[in-house]
Amino acid sequence: MTKIAVAGGTGMVGARLVGALEARGHDVVTLSRAAGVDLVSGAGLAPAIAGVDVIVDVTSTVSTKAHDCAEFFGAVARNLQREGAAAGVQSIVTLSIVGIDHLTGGGVYGHYVGKLMQEKETKAGSVPAVILRATQFHEFAGQLIDWTAKGPFMPCPRQPSQTVALDTVVEHLVRLGELRTSAGTVTFNLAGPQKALMADLVRATARTRGRKLVVIPVWLPGETPRRVRQGALQAPTDATIDGPTFDEWLERESALPE
Ligand SMILES: NC(=O)c1ccc[n+]([C@@H]2O[C@H](COP(=O)([O-])OP(=O)(O)OC[C@H]3O[C@@H](n4cnc5c(N)ncnc54)[C@H](OP(=O)(O)O)[C@@H]3O)[C@@H](O)[C@H]2O)c1
Repeated sequence: MTKIAVAGGTGMVGARLVGALEARGHDVVTLSRAAGVDLVSGAGLAPAIAGVDVIVDVTSTVSTKAHDCAEFFGAVARNLQREGAAAGVQSIVTLSIVGIDHLTGGGVYGHYVGKLMQEKETKAGSVPAVILRATQFHEFAGQLIDWTAKGPFMPCPRQPSQTVALDTVVEHLVRLGELRTSAGTVTFNLAGPQKALMADLVRATARTRGRKLVVIPVWLPGETPRRVRQGALQAPTDATIDGPTFDEWLERESALPE
């Protein structure tokens, strides 16, 4: 049994990760404001991670502005490293995103600027770090609908994708958390098996939900959207390919009871 702290353990990824770790018999601590820990200010962090072996960072912020995201992810990563080192934590596993070092222009991709800052600050600390860069999740198409589709029409940037199931990402986070130690910083890339345009995944998700939605592909100006169109969010050559295809996953999800 390992004592593992999940930073962001109440979120979409975090809640599933906490469940998976507990199912494997680990002693799990949740770090989030709802659990009395503010990872930006650091309030409540030191006592919460006493005796913790490994921290997995799956935090996120609602802001999409590059500056806000960089401040948030940078502060969280610095605090986890500093307090983690003081508490004798053996490794920090951070969930990041494939291709973000090519996507530094901000705009609608401001989140990626924050994630790059998170990686930088995580690597800068003394606790050995394992970075898992995943592609967008299969679930992301549905999130996009929830966030942006206000009526019958929905704009969607032209975005070649290679999405991966959230459950598959969680399995890899569990495996990396159980490693406990690493020699230094290591980065792994993880992707699903199927290349597709995000607009098509959004259409398929909307159909499954019984929602009539006209998805309008949009060409955004600038270097970052150009790199996205060239496939920066798809699996790099060294990526581990794992989990169900989007179609297999969607079929399985739609068969589940509401
Ligand atoms: N969606 C994708 O396709 C995808 C792909 C690859 C990687 N990722 C990464 O997955 C990560 C997790 O995403 P998610 O959707 O699970 O996020 P989420 O549902 O928004 O959850 C965010 C978590 O962060 C916590 N949090 C926020 N501010 C905090 C603060 N000041 N102090 C302590 N905790 C704080 C929240 O808890 P409280 O509100 O209780 O504080 C919550 O537990 C993100 O970093 C994202 O980049 C996502």
